[in-house]
Amino acid sequence: MRKMAFLLGICISTFSFSQSTIAIIPEPVSLKTGSGNFVLPQSISIESPSNPEMKQVIAVLKDRLAVPTGSTVTVSNASANATIRLLLNKTVDEKMGKEGYALSVTPKNIVIRANQPAGLFYGVQTLLQLFPKEIESASRVSNIVWAAPVVEISDVPRFGWRGLMFDVTRHFFTKAEVKQFIDDMVRYKYNLLHLHLTDDEGWRLEIKGLPKLTEVGAWNVKKTGYFGTFSPPTADEPRNYGGFYTQNDIKELVQYAKERFVNILPEIDVPGHSLAAVVSYPELSCTPEANTYRVRSGEVIMDWSKGAPPIALVDNTLCPANEKVYTFLDKVMTQVAQLFPFEYIHVGGDECPKNYWEKNDAIKALMQREKLKSMEEVQSYFEKRLEKIVESKGKKFMGWDEILEGGLAPSAAVMSWRGVKGGIEAAKMKHDVVMSPTTYAYLDYMQADAITEPRIYASLRLNKTYEFEPVPDGVDAQYIKGGQANLWTEQVYNMRHAQYMLWPRAFAIAESVWSPKEKKNWNHFFSKVENHFERFDVAEKKYSPAVYDPIFNVTRTADSSLRIELGKEVAGLDIYYSFDNSFPDRFYPKYTTALTPPKDAVMLKIITYKDKKQVGRMIAMPIAELRSRIEKKK
Ligand code: ACM
Repeated sequence: MRKMAFLLGICISTFSFSQSTIAIIPEPVSLKTGSGNFVLPQSISIESPSNPEMKQVIAVLKDRLAVPTGSTVTVSNASANATIRLLLNKTVDEKMGKEGYALSVTPKNIVIRANQPAGLFYGVQTLLQLFPKEIESASRVSNIVWAAPVVEISDVPRFGWRGLMFDVTRHFFTKAEVKQFIDDMVRYKYNLLHLHLTDDEGWRLEIKGLPKLTEVGAWNVKKTGYFGTFSPPTADEPRNYGGFYTQNDIKELVQYAKERFVNILPEIDVPGHSLAAVVSYPELSCTPEANTYRVRSGEVIMDWSKGAPPIALVDNTLCPANEKVYTFLDKVMTQVAQLFPFEYIHVGGDECPKNYWEKNDAIKALMQREKLKSMEEVQSYFEKRLEKIVESKGKKFMGWDEILEGGLAPSAAVMSWRGVKGGIEAAKMKHDVVMSPTTYAYLDYMQADAITEPRIYASLRLNKTYEFEPVPDGVDAQYIKGGQANLWTEQVYNMRHAQYMLWPRAFAIAESVWSPKEKKNWNHFFSKVENHFERFDVAEKKYSPAVYDPIFNVTRTADSSLRIELGKEVAGLDIYYSFDNSFPDRFYPKYTTALTPPKDAVMLKIITYKDKKQVGRMIAMPIAELRSRIEKKK
């Protein structure tokens, strides 16, 4: 007996019981905890309906359970004794809709119910977040008790449109990388991938009969540094950077996405942002010298000093007064409509410069003929013709909020990016709207101070992202289809950095588009984010720790020395600093009140801890930089 107790002691002490906190992102509608746990056995059985749409639901569950645990997983379609039962409701539960689910974890087994396979898929994502973080491992982890806490969860999304936009033009991302993007987004219950397929830097979609779009339009010169400031390419620099998706690639991606309950929204961005198309087929331009243009490699092509719309230094627009443009777009939209089963085609419409149109005789003649009074009305004329083309292919028409200017096409849906104003205006006119405002949802923006982040136009910290509310006050919610975050990639050169930009801010957006508004709570959310950071560490996925970076606020005191305040985005952080160029740790001075640098100091170095553990990265802020910020404020 004593020997048995001794052996048991050894067994228990070598196993880690790391599960405990429940940290589900996005927060479910209802979650009731019980007592006890369900522990995965060595041999896991799954009961699943035999439905072709269940293929990926099972594959995800099987793979994610078998690999880290080393358990065997078997699947059958009728086994009431199964470890995990996936059940489709025999009578539809109206409250669950198409994507809702109910998940029950008891000490005996796990049951997920839904009306449709999509709901079971989301139930599985939730279930996986209940297991210890080691469930994220891509290889076997020993000595873990694979326990999930007893819970009853019922859940249903707030919005049907839960989107992420991926710009695959500024930098090209391969088919395999797009699949990885899809794999990552579905874990947080996103269901729409908006692919920004064309822009000044590349045309990424094979169009049969228009070969130059991808022979010429998909390639530029590889440059490294700060996109937008690159030296203009010289003739001897190779134009071999870029790529495109063949139509077979797109079919494969659409199928891959569909199996994971994701729709792909294609965007063909016209009439602005069209340099790659213009270079491929210069006859689509109003401007004769277009035949000397090259696909952009990140050099300056716009003057933004006077605000929007920009002044174009090269004419990157399709010509609204040229019939060949509509023939071209008809051909493109025919194939786009065939390739992408989703009901919408996004036609861009943003940031279209008008300065080349203003001096063009064909545009002047068009304005006279069609009685158009402004350049906005010229663009509106273009959009209305394009709307007819898109609708003739059986698709709905969507564009960025600039399509409101000069008169909105009759059935257009609007994606509101310049704040929510355009979305409100469109919804008031009874048009469908997707909210995607820069203020909350632009994941290309810097997550912390420009001293550490790759520089881009603006900043958007995690706590601001979490405030995203897709339905503004006073708007009829029936016109708001949902919300979306956008990852533009001017400054994103590879997939690891794409992950860094997405996470954790895409956790916040996921909660804004899935969870009930009244369930959102920043402190609770951030505790879950830290749990998911640990999960990402196990999965070896990248995320940004910028949320731990201090917020610098610098002013000048009456005696004209600097006064440096260090704000915190989250509570419970301890900041330590040095002015002597050495690397602070938690045995250095702790920040408690505003700092004044010693007279000859050149650098403020900062490190952040939480509960004696380093969480932030080393920040080096030159004193000269802080001084120049004060000068700029004047
Ligand atoms: C946009 O960000 N130009 C839609």
